[in-house]
Amino acid sequence: MRVLTGIQASGKLHIGNYFGAMKPMIELQEKEELFTFIANYHSLTTSKDAELLKELTFQAAVDYLSLGIDPQKTTFWVQSDVPQVLELYWILSKFTPMGLLERAHSYKDKVAKGISANHALFSYPVLMAADILLLDTQKVPVGKDQIQHIEITRDIAIKFNNEYGEIFTLPEYVVNEEVATIPGIDGQKMSKSYNNAIDIFMESEKKLQKRCNKIVSSSTPLGEPLEYEGCNIYNLASLFLNNEERLELQKRYKSGKEGYGHFKKYLKELIWEEFAEAREKREYYMSNPDIVRDILNDGANKMRKIANEKMAQVRKAVGIL
Ligand code: ADP
Ligand code: TRP
Repeated sequence: MRVLTGIQASGKLHIGNYFGAMKPMIELQEKEELFTFIANYHSLTTSKDAELLKELTFQAAVDYLSLGIDPQKTTFWVQSDVPQVLELYWILSKFTPMGLLERAHSYKDKVAKGISANHALFSYPVLMAADILLLDTQKVPVGKDQIQHIEITRDIAIKFNNEYGEIFTLPEYVVNEEVATIPGIDGQKMSKSYNNAIDIFMESEKKLQKRCNKIVSSSTPLGEPLEYEGCNIYNLASLFLNNEERLELQKRYKSGKEGYGHFKKYLKELIWEEFAEAREKREYYMSNPDIVRDILNDGANKMRKIANEKMAQVRKAVGIL
């Protein structure tokens, strides 16, 4: 099964991103034919700073490689290294009724938030359709906010196929309902916009401990049994534990021998340990940017071959010499 995931490079990754999006993606590469790319042309729609966009694109590549994207198993590239996608975007635009884009929630939401309306922002879903249709994608794992974009992709593909035959594969979205919303240090959904995130790559163990110490907990005095249900520290810690370990932690809460401070320390250890290997890999890639560039170039070469074949079909169909 051909699966495509697109990554918006938006800065530091947190534990919510890891459990909500990256871990499921990394597990997919064991079972499916996974294609993953960094959508830097999409990021350009809201970017204001060239250096920052470059930096974030590179960071995302390093972070995903460090956390387990395996270039032997997954084709991994940067969107702008496969310019065929822009040609397809233009051709698909001709099969995209204005009304389809005018109904896009994501565009309306962004404009409502004060992002100035421009054509790239408006036609964002057509570029996304080009990403997906360029490689006969069958499944696209997405968050709920992206479902409409996959529906738009299908509409465009159907319109094209009706006119020119079965050139494009109709993709399906996959929403992982099992993935819970990971809470932040205040118990609300962890998000970089809410200032409640615990980042995956903290500078030091000490800084991570400081962040964990900020987790909001109830004020039961030391010596009394603690309630683990609804406790933010427990909820975060249990993400890293198997069933047996979870029961063990519940017992510790109930014993009354330990206070929240102990559990915050325990959580810090769990997080630090979980990402130990990723931290090492990250240091390696950060100090060897050429290796990262080579991996991305290999991925882009593979993709360009696929893209050229598809574009030959598309050009022929629509009559581009
Ligand atoms: P943020 O809310 O920090 O801006 P993004 O919107 O960039 O995060 O999300 C990137 C990916 O991480 C999405 O697939 C999203 O579903 C997932 N994700 C983000 N925060 C959480 C969370 N708290 N719990 C589960 N998944 C999350
Ligand atoms: N719009 C997606 C997001 O914000 C990123 C993306 C761009 C994408 N092109 C894609 C996702 C193609 C899947 C397939 O998350």
